Amino acid sequence: MGSFPVLETERLRLRETRANDLDDLYHVYSDPEVTRYYNLDALTNLEQARQIIRRRQEALGRGHIRWALCLKEDDRYIGSCGLPFSLEYWRVAELGYELGREHWGKGLMTEAVRAVCHYAFETLGMQRLEAQVMPGNGASIRVLEKCGFRCEGLLRGRGFWNERSHDLLMFGLLRDDLG
Ligand SMILES: CC(C)(COP(=O)(O)OP(=O)(O)OC[C@H]1O[C@@H](n2cnc3c(N)ncnc32)[C@H](O)[C@@H]1OP(=O)(O)O)[C@@H](O)C(=O)NCCC(=O)NCCS
Repeated sequence: MGSFPVLETERLRLRETRANDLDDLYHVYSDPEVTRYYNLDALTNLEQARQIIRRRQEALGRGHIRWALCLKEDDRYIGSCGLPFSLEYWRVAELGYELGREHWGKGLMTEAVRAVCHYAFETLGMQRLEAQVMPGNGASIRVLEKCGFRCEGLLRGRGFWNERSHDLLMFGLLRDDLG
């Protein structure tokens, strides 16, 4: 991949994660409410945040895009959204996202996910997007529904973290669903 694909929505700029996002990224991921439904413990030191930034930069070389979400007004990191795992051979990509708690409930993630879905279908040529969500994560389920995803069933024991298995709902959106 050449240069990082910057996307813009009404209120957001979706750009690459930069070294100077360190403090803002740490702020988001050190909040246990943000990581509650994630296979990730809340961060406890800046070195962990530095590793996330490094991993994102390396992953891009393998075609895995994770956008930093920033409000256009100040370009500061408030969350992320991306396609971290993909079955490119089948033109399927899995979506993941999170947002700093002070920005919840304003429709921002719905705005970001719509832009990422459009990019995945129109530019990357994906045919299907997937998202796996814990059944109790009502806000995330609602974001997916607003973006047109359908719940396709419960995958029993699909996730494993914190020493135990977790059931996950599978959501899917086909390129053809959008007409
Ligand atoms: C999930 C998350 C990204 C949503 O971001 P957001 O910008 O607040 O989402 P939006 O404002 O676009 O939409 C949220 C919707 O969920 C609804 N909602 C919020 N909490 C809810 C709950 N507990 N149960 C059901 N719906 C809920 C909101 O009312 C809104 O729906 P509406 O527009 O119909 O009123 C954010 O809560 C988050 O970062 N959570 C922690 C990380 C996470 O869980 N990531 C997803 C892992 S699969």
